[in-house]
Amino acid sequence: MFVCSTTGEGDPPDNMKNFWRFLFRKSLPLGSLCRLDCAVLGLGDSSYSKFNFVAKKLHKRLLQLGASILLPVGLADDQHDLGPDGVIDPWLTAFWEKALSLYPPPAGLKALSDTELLPPRYTFNFLDNATEKPANWSQNMTLVTNRSQPCPFMAQMMSNQRVTHPTHFQDVRLIEFDITGSNIEFDAGDVLMMRPQNCPEDVQQLCELLKLDPERQFILTPTDGAAAPGPARLPQPCTVRYLLERFLDVASVPRRSFFEVLACFATNELEKEKLVEFCSAKGQEELHSYCSRPRRTALEVLADFPHTMATIQVDYLLDLFPEIQPRSFSIASSLLARPHRIQILLAVVQYRTRLHKPRKGLCSSWLASLDPTQGTVSVPLWVKKGGLKFPTDPNTPVIMVGPGTGVAPFRSAVQERVAQHKTGNVLFFGCRSECKDFYFRSEWEELEGASQLTLFTAFSRDQEDKVYVQHRVTQQAALLWDLIVNKDAYFYIAGNAKDMPTAVCDALKGLFQSEGGVSASQAEEMLGAMEKAGRFQRETWS
Ligand code: 2AM
Repeated sequence: MFVCSTTGEGDPPDNMKNFWRFLFRKSLPLGSLCRLDCAVLGLGDSSYSKFNFVAKKLHKRLLQLGASILLPVGLADDQHDLGPDGVIDPWLTAFWEKALSLYPPPAGLKALSDTELLPPRYTFNFLDNATEKPANWSQNMTLVTNRSQPCPFMAQMMSNQRVTHPTHFQDVRLIEFDITGSNIEFDAGDVLMMRPQNCPEDVQQLCELLKLDPERQFILTPTDGAAAPGPARLPQPCTVRYLLERFLDVASVPRRSFFEVLACFATNELEKEKLVEFCSAKGQEELHSYCSRPRRTALEVLADFPHTMATIQVDYLLDLFPEIQPRSFSIASSLLARPHRIQILLAVVQYRTRLHKPRKGLCSSWLASLDPTQGTVSVPLWVKKGGLKFPTDPNTPVIMVGPGTGVAPFRSAVQERVAQHKTGNVLFFGCRSECKDFYFRSEWEELEGASQLTLFTAFSRDQEDKVYVQHRVTQQAALLWDLIVNKDAYFYIAGNAKDMPTAVCDALKGLFQSEGGVSASQAEEMLGAMEKAGRFQRETWS
């Protein structure tokens, strides 16, 4: 069974890239998979135009190579009313029916049911008389061996500065790291990667719930006797604090597997009934209302099931909670303008749901809480190639549309291009108010003064009617048409994936029609051709 997500503009995820290249090699004979029975489940989000593109393409390629496909490709969708499980559940039921009919278990054996507790993946061996302290954190970082994720560099945070007006509703930070001594290199469009830590209150609460001393040390042994000692990112021995603070994802909305493990432990009747319901197909609506809609965290769920919580065996912690995943941020600076430094522009995520407690984004809240003026702050980070690519030809103009924090990669591009003496830098920036969230204003104005940048701004709330970047794009139709058609300009959009990218695309197609006199379908084709040639690129996030 192939389970795959789609990233960027229809690209395979990082850890699938080698396989993807292999699978699409021209030298693979068409019948090479004729002995394979398989199925493809895609994990996607239909608010993106390349919805589940990788799963669909994989499915086609497997067919082409002669594989027998057991059932139609599953297209799980984050936008589904019940979340991706709304598609995954019926798909899995159909899959197992088909798979078990083709490959029935040997006589006397039956398939496991969801309610049976499997052995934990690891056993915790506590070193209660340990005299030796575990290796310190920075040494531990060398333990990272995952191929798709290079060894992090301990970068010192140099500044963490609020760039929105104190009265503005949103806290947006410009954060700078020193990467002197690392081999980190990056170009405009690349992204900074880091893993957040759980907040101290959550760590403490979990220690209390689990009745664990944070300073206790342990060694993990795989239950199945595998040679690998434990997850690569965990030091051995490890402290409880390290595990709870840096490894277990306790602050995300838990998945169904979390409830499945909990249900196996439950002995209290009321709690067990509820947990079993949450795991069943017909309890999904209920689970969604309880958990996903109010964005309840795993830790909050545990507190709601105190009897079950008290019976959880420590050995199951790594089965219960997933690992904290790295987060990516568009880099907002260029090494050519700021050597040995990396900057990001970060909106601190905070919102309210039906739960009374405000919700916080784990990574942005953690970063915002770090204060380099109060002592040395080091953060493990690494850099990844991003989706946006800028032209090397110094005569090719670039048109960049980046409202809000979407401007981050374009600040990197403008800094880089100005340092390389590339002209033809056109930026459309949008924010709520000229005096509250106009990021990098003085920098842009200075560049404009030196004729190195053409800037168009849209302040949405400084007047009665909303003015957005797409309105400015339409107003500049003649200029943009000239740049795109006569000077082969590249066009970029970055920012919130909700409605802005589509609205900007519509404005662009509109100006092709008004300036070029082409029909709507021809405008669509023009944009498609630009995209194919790499001259129209988007980087959006939700
Ligand atoms: P608003 O919040 O006043 O609606 C950065 O977030 C800027 O993007 C803000 O000025 C915001 O305006 C604006 N914005 C919100 N929705 C948008 C959309 N659909 N298209 C373009 N800009 C949008």
